[in-house]
Amino acid sequence: MPSPKGPPELKHLDHILVSPLAIKRRIAQLGSQLNQDYAKKDLMVVAIVNGALIFTADLLRQMRSPLRLDCLRASSYHTGTRAVGEPRIVDQMKLDVKGQHVLLVDDILDTGKTLAAVAGLIKAKGAASVKTCVLLDKKARRAVPFEADYVGFGIPNEFVVGYGLDFNERYRNLPCIGVLKPKFYGG
Ligand code: IMP
Ligand code: MG
Repeated sequence: MPSPKGPPELKHLDHILVSPLAIKRRIAQLGSQLNQDYAKKDLMVVAIVNGALIFTADLLRQMRSPLRLDCLRASSYHTGTRAVGEPRIVDQMKLDVKGQHVLLVDDILDTGKTLAAVAGLIKAKGAASVKTCVLLDKKARRAVPFEADYVGFGIPNEFVVGYGLDFNERYRNLPCIGVLKPKFYGG
């Protein structure tokens, strides 16, 4: 359990994979790339929450256009650190994506099932274009053929927490991406 006195503790981490400074710098690069690529397009960002919440908040503040933002919720059933079955998509979007240039933002591309399903859903609703942006890419775990258009960092096949990513809904507020000590993956 995180300390009741404050944020989840860095001392729960076995090691850090991506530091806060590295995240900040990479997001600045992604932001300027997106500013170039969408300079002449009216952009709608769709964040897949909860995981993409913190990444999206920081990424959007690097972007210049008066873009629009909506969210949808996706969750997988987990046994420990493994997603089992198909992701469940809860589409409560308020904005109409028909004819829009949509950028889907998620925390991590793992098996690829979530982004493949959500991208399919947004295309089926008639978006003009659908691109995807993830902070992390765990290529070794891919179960369906799916690649993101914008990737922050490729990471090894380890279950990570922090900066939006959780284990049993905890540790999202860590400022870095890290791997928990084995004893904290217990339950
Ligand atoms: P998918 O397997 O690509 O469909 O990813 C499903 C979701 O699993 C992601 O959006 C994350 O929320 C979660 N996930 C995958 N790998 C990790 C991880 O290493 N840490 C925390 N969450 C993860
Ligand atoms: Mg997620």
